[in-house]
Amino acid sequence: MTLDEQARDVLRKNDKGGYTLPTHGLYPYQWNWDSAFAAWGFTTFDPDRGWTELETLMSGQWEDGMLPHILFHRVDPGYFPGPDVWQGRGPIPSSGISQPPVAATFMAKMLAMDPSGEPRARAIWPKLNAWHRWFMDWRLDRGAVCVTHPWEAGRDNAPDWDGAMKAINADDVGDYTRRDTSHVDPAMRPTKYDYDRYLKLVQLGVSVNWDQSKLRDINPFRVADPTMTFTLLRAQRDMAAMGRRFGEGVSEIEGWIEILEAGAETLWNPEIAGYDSRDVHAGTFNGVLSNASALCWYAGLNDDRALPAIAGMLNATRYGLASYDPEGEEFEPLRYWRGPTWPIMSYLVGSGMEEQGVTDLGTRIRDDTARLMELNGFAEYYSPLDGTPAGGETFTWTAAVWLGWAGDNRENQLGDAGCRQSN
Ligand code: DGY
Repeated sequence: MTLDEQARDVLRKNDKGGYTLPTHGLYPYQWNWDSAFAAWGFTTFDPDRGWTELETLMSGQWEDGMLPHILFHRVDPGYFPGPDVWQGRGPIPSSGISQPPVAATFMAKMLAMDPSGEPRARAIWPKLNAWHRWFMDWRLDRGAVCVTHPWEAGRDNAPDWDGAMKAINADDVGDYTRRDTSHVDPAMRPTKYDYDRYLKLVQLGVSVNWDQSKLRDINPFRVADPTMTFTLLRAQRDMAAMGRRFGEGVSEIEGWIEILEAGAETLWNPEIAGYDSRDVHAGTFNGVLSNASALCWYAGLNDDRALPAIAGMLNATRYGLASYDPEGEEFEPLRYWRGPTWPIMSYLVGSGMEEQGVTDLGTRIRDDTARLMELNGFAEYYSPLDGTPAGGETFTWTAAVWLGWAGDNRENQLGDAGCRQSN
């Protein structure tokens, strides 16, 4: 099979009928930003299925506009923490936090690929707008978007959160059994210290029935995050463009774009010469250079100040952009968000650079990303040092990145590399 065929096969095999699993076993539900990548990946060969993916995702939206990070369509004992722990209050059993808002930007791409999907996009647009309003209402700090749980940023155990995690007392979290470490080598996953605090934050949310006004007062974890700020800024730009096409009023969205642009500037940390996360309660930068620091181009900010540090990160490894500065003290090349390279972030960063004319670095990230998949298949993440595949296997969003971006024009360059993964 060619890699294109293998990638389509991954999507089809992870398809549960209307929604797609990130991968079997480790993640047996519908995840928010994974699903947006899946919708885009499907649209490269089955647009109808792509639109259905987005529609299923939106069907889990809460009344207040929040779009959960996990929708538990069918209970699966192979995952913890499940719906009984989260006690979400939406129309479908769900978690109580959200995830990076990339869906609008993928919808804009899907519309360009499949203009016949416009009626479906028009129906989804107001729902996405309500979700984005929820972020603007509840998650801003000086215009930057905050996360209230490390999982909300998608970068679960990134060193960004280490300081804020220390402020969480999890002594009374109780006993629980993790499932993730039965699917994947524990050395590639977050630690028990991390999980105690992840669960403590869930328990706090449940204690106030996920009421955001109450949660804001009692949650010790509030971090202004480049992942959220840059993805929402980009999403608002795409929403404004689609809204104009659909005849919707977009002046409110234009105001939000200005707020978020100002907020992005509050994440610029001169000490690391990069965009950083800010611990809102402590009032300090976290001093972390990550792949999220490089999302400014994706957000439409062509910022030359950010180039040297990101180029330095790229030069320090062989394969792609590491999730955390390879020169940083906490760097671990195989542990989840503390070093590995993630094709989905590489796509967001690399395609953003290409759009903004930073083509040398953008093309390099794209080529590295493609090479990883050619050599080692569609893994969840990889060591940026030697390309070792890690985490879950046959991963939906990695396959989507191949189909939508990394694999463009590559099948004919592969020679026999395209057959290496055949089984
Ligand atoms: C997990 O279970 O590891 C997920 O990343 C949480 O969203």
